[in-house]
Amino acid sequence: MPAVASVISAEQLYERLKAQLDGIAPDVELRYKAQLAAEILRLKEERNALILGHNYMEPALYYSIPDYTGDSLELSRKAAQTDKDIIVFCGVKFMAETAKILNPDKLVLLPSEKAGCSLAGSITAEDVRWLKARFPGVPVVAYINTYAEVKAEADICCTSSNAAAVVESLGSDTVIFIPDEYLARNVARETGKHIIVPVRLPNGQLSVDDTVVDYQIIGWYGRCEVHEKFTVADIEAIRAQFPDVVVLAHPECSPDVVAAADFTGSTSAMIRFVQQSSAQRYVLLTECAMGDNVAAATPDKEMVRLCSIRCPHMNQITLEETLSALRQLRYVIDVPEPIRSRARRAVERMLHIG
Ligand code: 13P
Ligand code: SF4
Repeated sequence: MPAVASVISAEQLYERLKAQLDGIAPDVELRYKAQLAAEILRLKEERNALILGHNYMEPALYYSIPDYTGDSLELSRKAAQTDKDIIVFCGVKFMAETAKILNPDKLVLLPSEKAGCSLAGSITAEDVRWLKARFPGVPVVAYINTYAEVKAEADICCTSSNAAAVVESLGSDTVIFIPDEYLARNVARETGKHIIVPVRLPNGQLSVDDTVVDYQIIGWYGRCEVHEKFTVADIEAIRAQFPDVVVLAHPECSPDVVAAADFTGSTSAMIRFVQQSSAQRYVLLTECAMGDNVAAATPDKEMVRLCSIRCPHMNQITLEETLSALRQLRYVIDVPEPIRSRARRAVERMLHIG
């Protein structure tokens, strides 16, 4: 999506948002948000900052302040290319950390300290060392939704848009794939591999079922607290009501949900699918703000709105917090060496895969 020009009045921005978000957000809210956004754009210029916005940002923010919007992979690539002094990441902490890993000399800001992620929080570096000791010599693929300490233990990172390609690129009989159990199971299905997942026993110890010998992926038990909520029953109920609906599911959904959907892909892959397909009615099984953004971009299509599930972490990033981030230069993301340089190897190895 092209960025809004940096020097623009609040009134001009309001008119633009009103045209883009007609029927999606009330005018009174857009007028207020346009004022915040115009000030953010002015400060962005003054501070020589780049603003990156994940596809899950709320519509008024998504359509006003980012220089680039996109999925995790696209934004990692943009973070790797910038010559600005400051990167403001309108996303969650693991995304801002990835930007810092790639840009140690730049100031990287995350507008809220509360923007975590249930997947990134599900695994520690110590857990990865346990996996590596238990399965010696097996390469580790870390989903980008992990913190820097975990990436530092990995051989390569992946995102939802390249997970299977990254696994295949290793040419290894067996891989450790962390931390999203469902993404790992979906990759296993796509690549024809068998998967085992260690369990955490009540005493806190990790355990693997030794009776299973035919496996090529060793997963982890992390789940996205948003995508794990969608069920096959949801899909069946929506199809019963809207027989022509095309169902799109993010690969962090369970394998049953992904199998029952018509299309699965990263957040940007879902956006492209809606834009390019000739089908008229869609439902997106993903974070609900993205539904607003896609509905605004494709007014000729009908979106079945499923807006009960908002990511509580992405929800922390608001125009108010972004303005404070630029004014007060907060919250600074720091990744200590040598964790950063080890994590960088894993991220860059992924970026070199097409
Ligand atoms: P994407 O890389 O598909 O944008 O996904 C990031 C994410 O956190 C999905 O929940
Ligand atoms: Fe993490 Fe899920 Fe939120 Fe994405 S939607 S940031 S995976 S909790």
